[in-house]
Amino acid sequence: MPLPRGPRLEVVGRLAVVDIPPGMETRAAEMARQVLGAHPRLDGVLGRLATPEGEARVPRLVPLVGSRTDTIHRENGCRFHVDLAHAFFSPRLAEERKRLASGLRRGQRVLCGFAGVGPFPIVLARLAGVHAVGVEQSPGAHRLLEENIRANHLTAKVEAVRGDIAGISPGRLFDHVVLTPPKEEPGGKLRYLDLGFSHLVPGGLLHYYTFAGSQEAASWRERGWSVRRCGDYAPGVHRVVVKIPT
Ligand SMILES: C[S@@+](CC[C@H](N)C(=O)[O-])C[C@H]1O[C@@H](n2cnc3c(N)ncnc32)[C@H](O)[C@@H]1O
Repeated sequence: MPLPRGPRLEVVGRLAVVDIPPGMETRAAEMARQVLGAHPRLDGVLGRLATPEGEARVPRLVPLVGSRTDTIHRENGCRFHVDLAHAFFSPRLAEERKRLASGLRRGQRVLCGFAGVGPFPIVLARLAGVHAVGVEQSPGAHRLLEENIRANHLTAKVEAVRGDIAGISPGRLFDHVVLTPPKEEPGGKLRYLDLGFSHLVPGGLLHYYTFAGSQEAASWRERGWSVRRCGDYAPGVHRVVVKIPT
């Protein structure tokens, strides 16, 4: 059986993550060799067995070349220590973070819920000069968030809060709230909307990253919200950002 042409591949720092489609598990080593042939400077190749599961959105990974799961990834002039076995990270949103930063003003306060290892708060603070608070409940991801804030010399601009986003003090208000929750299932979509609003100043803006098909996106637009595609997820389903003013 031929290998799938151009397996879906993500390069994070010096690691490659390659999707192993169901039924192709026995061909994984061959796929890894193909990847290394195209990217000879990599330290390792990991196979991704399924889409991320659970609240922490950490995928099931198998080492195919090398045994490391951590690496340093550079994006938007920032560096991130990432451990793909313990914390979600996707390089695909790099351009989106840059675009988001271009709409913010120096000194504004930004709450980044579901911060992971910190790409949103750190890039926004670096590029736009905002004061950001990143909230992350997984201890492994929070440890890397703190480390990345220090490594990017942003301790004066970015605060890391460990815990459930629902536990943030109700009195803390922000000019922008950026939410990147784990994938929400149909019927439970936008469940953090009210929480996000409750932390906005009057005139503030909520930026809610989620996934939607065209019908769902249309129904949100009918409510007067701006919905923009910022990536693909599956046939007919896109990564979108819903922008909602207070
Ligand atoms: C989809 S990842 C996004 C990470 C990050 N924003 C990024 O783009 O790399 C979601 C993150 O939210 C965290 N998380 C899940 N539920 C949470 C909650 N109730 N409060 C705070 N963080 C949560 C997970 O541990 C995970 O790191």
